[in-house]
Amino acid sequence: MKAYYKVDEWRVIEEGFDPLHHEASESIFSLGNGHMGQRANFEEKYSGKSLQGTYIAGIYHPDKTRVGWWKNGYPEYFAKVPNAPNWTGIRIIAGKEELDLHTCKTSEFIRELDMQHGCLNRSFVATFSSGKKMRVVARRFLSMAEDDIGAVRYAVTPVNFDGTIEMIPFLDGNVINRDTNYDEQFWDIIESGVKEDTAYLRSRVRKSGFEAGYAMQYTVEVNGKPAKTVVEPLQQPGYNGFHLKIKARANEEVVLYKYAAILSSLDHKPDLLVKNSIERVTKAARKKFDKLYDNHVAIWEKNWAQSDIIIKGDAAAQQGIRFNIFQLNQTYTGKDERLNIGPKGFTGEKYGGSTYWDTEAFLIPFYLSTEPPEVARNLLIYRFKHLQKAIENAEKLGFNAGAALYPMVTMNGEECHNEWEITFEEIHRNGAIAFAIYNYIRYTGDKDYLAEYGLEVLIALARFWRQRVNWSDVKGKYVILGVTGPNEYENNVNNNWYTNKMAAWTLRYTIECLDYVMDEHPLQYQRIVKKTHLYYDSETSSWKDIIKHMYFPMLDERGIFLQQDGYMDKEQRMVAELSPKERPINQHWSWDRILRSVFIKQADVLQGIFCFEDEYTTDTIRRNFDFYEPRTVHESSLSPCIHSILANRIGEVEKAYDLYLRTSRLDLDDYNNEVAEGLHITSMGGTWMSMVIGFGGMRIKEGMLTFTPNLPHKWKLISFNIQFRGRILNVTISENKTSVKLVKGEKLQVEINGKLVNCTHENNLLT
Ligand code: BGC
Repeated sequence: MKAYYKVDEWRVIEEGFDPLHHEASESIFSLGNGHMGQRANFEEKYSGKSLQGTYIAGIYHPDKTRVGWWKNGYPEYFAKVPNAPNWTGIRIIAGKEELDLHTCKTSEFIRELDMQHGCLNRSFVATFSSGKKMRVVARRFLSMAEDDIGAVRYAVTPVNFDGTIEMIPFLDGNVINRDTNYDEQFWDIIESGVKEDTAYLRSRVRKSGFEAGYAMQYTVEVNGKPAKTVVEPLQQPGYNGFHLKIKARANEEVVLYKYAAILSSLDHKPDLLVKNSIERVTKAARKKFDKLYDNHVAIWEKNWAQSDIIIKGDAAAQQGIRFNIFQLNQTYTGKDERLNIGPKGFTGEKYGGSTYWDTEAFLIPFYLSTEPPEVARNLLIYRFKHLQKAIENAEKLGFNAGAALYPMVTMNGEECHNEWEITFEEIHRNGAIAFAIYNYIRYTGDKDYLAEYGLEVLIALARFWRQRVNWSDVKGKYVILGVTGPNEYENNVNNNWYTNKMAAWTLRYTIECLDYVMDEHPLQYQRIVKKTHLYYDSETSSWKDIIKHMYFPMLDERGIFLQQDGYMDKEQRMVAELSPKERPINQHWSWDRILRSVFIKQADVLQGIFCFEDEYTTDTIRRNFDFYEPRTVHESSLSPCIHSILANRIGEVEKAYDLYLRTSRLDLDDYNNEVAEGLHITSMGGTWMSMVIGFGGMRIKEGMLTFTPNLPHKWKLISFNIQFRGRILNVTISENKTSVKLVKGEKLQVEINGKLVNCTHENNLLT
């Protein structure tokens, strides 16, 4: 863990340029707006190590699967998020020297992520080998108000010389991915050129056919007035822009405004991409930088009003939670049901921008509480639309009769992950999809969702579990063999407690939902029966039999649930016994050693207890927590948040606090030594949960919001807004007072520390 960035409640600040830290900072300072994202690559040339990253939502490249030993059932491709053409680049030349922080000396370097206003600021003084000094002040944002527009203000001041400054704003389509399997280029250039004052580019992803259309314009000012500029268009294949020469005297500020429109064939006909992007950029440039910026900031103000969490008394924790919320809001805006949230969002190539169970298990609660229900609903509909593909995926693996296995990793509903132990075995993901439907309904009360979409998904999931279990004569129970649970440091295990629990629960919930739709929506019920060829009596009776006779491994009668059969055969070592040199074990140990060890990558049994907490007494939760926490290395970003929530649940608030810092500052402090690859976007939903569900103690019980808050010593107060069933509530928790105030909507009853409170527009203060 490193404390590298300066702590500030609204900003992340890097003071001084450290090339060894550059790739990590490129991740940390990433920007996005739901439609696209951009790593914090420098605008000017940088010849040092850098991971270039521009990403456009929904666009992927199906990279041919590369494995040592082909296994039947593997998908043909692994989806990758292609690094898209670069729109931010601006080369700067003074005399014969080019600005490049790898070769120039840098001083007064500050890079700042302004989370309140959603922009990246950078300033420094560069000294060239000739001794010339140049001051640079740059600001960049990706408009939240017009999500196909990005803009840069790049100001250059010659400090100790007069002369010509050359500025080359460009678009570059000749980009590559670092993670290509076969050194292929993912994009073909279709059109590229310069028309009067606009450079444009149209590129196509080779195998998938997705296209992107870019257009770029600029203006230049010297000391606030339009500059006299010598301009030459730059036109090379896939690389074009303008070569500008501007005369400046020492201390005169030359400002280049660069505007780019980035359009995608998801929203535009391919042959209109160039035309439309030129129109879009022309409009944006006419509005000018400041106006575009103000409109963008107005959306951030709205976002923060909905989703901010205030922590008083702990700036590092405050910065941590805002960083997480900021990234979540930048990654997904809920406008488009074709989109989802990749584990790295728009901040890196790893995980290919694809959808994992992370969305259902870790993100739905955040969007449910901070946005109107349509946003979370769009995430559910995304899966509904992939149902047929999930059924086909299950058929490929030998299931039938409408059983669905959702992919572990997907862009379009097809499985595109190819490690057998994950693709074929990590089937608990099906459980997360059912649980998200349950979560959405218990939160919003929108039970009609079942008749419209949810029930069909549940039936297909239930059918999968029905076929995936088998009867064990020895145990006299149903068992689930050969799985990988959430803890991916175990493969091919039998009876992973979490998976068995999810399976039995899904069957029970599906029956409950079937009966509800049958009674309340008979016409829809008939439609669904016909469409799914459901045999109610025979199917539900076999499901009931499984529910009744499912096997759950137990450590002993004290109520510790065993992660899987045979777990206790392992040498029982504790994480505290590991030397710091061995951590993270996934970077120091061989894979087989990890598999044989007792160490747990991420919440597994505890993930199940988190989901079904109401079924267990506090003592049972404590016993399981005390057993599993010392064995957990938290080498998945999805882990500390769940442990933090459960630590709070059993009253271990200071432990919860340590785990909270670990989840909320995971990337800022680079706990797992991997932030250079990109940020852990999906676990950020977990961080939010560890605040609101953990310290805020928020639950939904029979349609009612309940709170049992608990603050760590360091915190004086926390405050957040919650959207719930048409209301907006403000929850403020201080050392011994909790108030839940109605900000918008009709009055509502909530429960605070076991007492019913009528929530009106007055402050409901409870001591
Ligand atoms: C975790 C998975 C998760 C994936 C993507 C892995 O390291 O073990 O649970 O789905 O990352 O976040």
